[in-house]
Amino acid sequence: HIPADLVSAVDYQRYAARHMSANARAYVDSAAADELSHAANLAAFARRQLQTQVLADVRGGHCRSELLGLSLSHPLLLAPVAYQKLVHADGERAAAYAATAMGSSMLVSTLASTPLEEVAAAAQGPLWFQLYWQHDRAVVAELVQRAEAAAYRALVLTVDAPLAGVRNAEARAGFQLPPRVQAANLAGMAPYQPALAAGQSMVFDGLMAVAPNWADIDWLRQQTRLPLLLKGVLAPRDARRAQQQGVDGLIVSNHGGRVLDSVPASLDALPRIAEAVDGALPLLLDGGIRRGSDILKALALGASAVLIGRPYLHALATAGALGVAHLLRTLQEELEVAMALTGCRTLADISPEVLWPE
Ligand code: FNR
Repeated sequence: HIPADLVSAVDYQRYAARHMSANARAYVDSAAADELSHAANLAAFARRQLQTQVLADVRGGHCRSELLGLSLSHPLLLAPVAYQKLVHADGERAAAYAATAMGSSMLVSTLASTPLEEVAAAAQGPLWFQLYWQHDRAVVAELVQRAEAAAYRALVLTVDAPLAGVRNAEARAGFQLPPRVQAANLAGMAPYQPALAAGQSMVFDGLMAVAPNWADIDWLRQQTRLPLLLKGVLAPRDARRAQQQGVDGLIVSNHGGRVLDSVPASLDALPRIAEAVDGALPLLLDGGIRRGSDILKALALGASAVLIGRPYLHALATAGALGVAHLLRTLQEELEVAMALTGCRTLADISPEVLWPE
């Protein structure tokens, strides 16, 4: 049962404040350092305005989309978010089930609090697996094989977070994972513990010493026939390099402002990436999507689809699978309204023309 005054993603944020522990809020709602990039994500959507097109015939319109083998009712996916049992006992299983029910899909995190096989079984529909590189190629290969065996349809390597970033808000709140919430996919694996000599840096000699590089992308490309996407690209040169190395898609993202603060809004990075790859690769975008009109703005600037992170965690915290399904339907309806009033019958009609010239 969804309360009558719960009608948008921002309402879920308000409700979730009551349904989440202070510990969970410190993890989900925070971003890195001064949270400038997270604020920039939201501001970039607020700044752009739409240009209406009146008297257009949009009968028979829809926002269905085909994306790397997925048939979607709307160009909106659930972003990979770790440790979802922090906010609801059903965790990732509920979110993935809601995604399937609404004709969407979910990117299941390496750091899910439910094993990837169980999420796939609960979803009853196609999913993508988000891969965090591990310190050892054999461990990465094992995760890839498990994802393939569980019928995941694509691999998404997150490349913007080889280290955790400056998580001041979490540190101030004393955030800790409760014992009931763990990285289920990595259970039984020894955590990487760098042995540092005196004077060595945890960043350069510890974490970055085992971070992936472009040679590992070549290796990973050889490990699987699934579509391979990179998540967390902001610079055009990185986008071109990924394309040259046989990557099938990119997610333009600053990780919700959670890793390096002071990078631009992902929406502001998108046009230059779109120019760099010139239609050769599908581009997805996440960071700050809160309205159907935000989805329209991202598609107008070159995205094929978008993802939401925090909003669906708020919906999950508030009302479990039903909340996530309701949020997806609400955003789809908002997108349809924005398309209809800007004269777009299908996603193919969305162009920079729907934006008010800046
Ligand atoms: C994330 N994100 C993330 N990304 C990823 O590739 N693997 C992960 O495990 C996580 N975990 C995670 C936890 C939490 C609590 C958040 C909020 C985010 C980043 C996520 O996929 C996405 O890029 C952002 O959440 C998008 O921004 P919005 O929609 O939250 O503004």
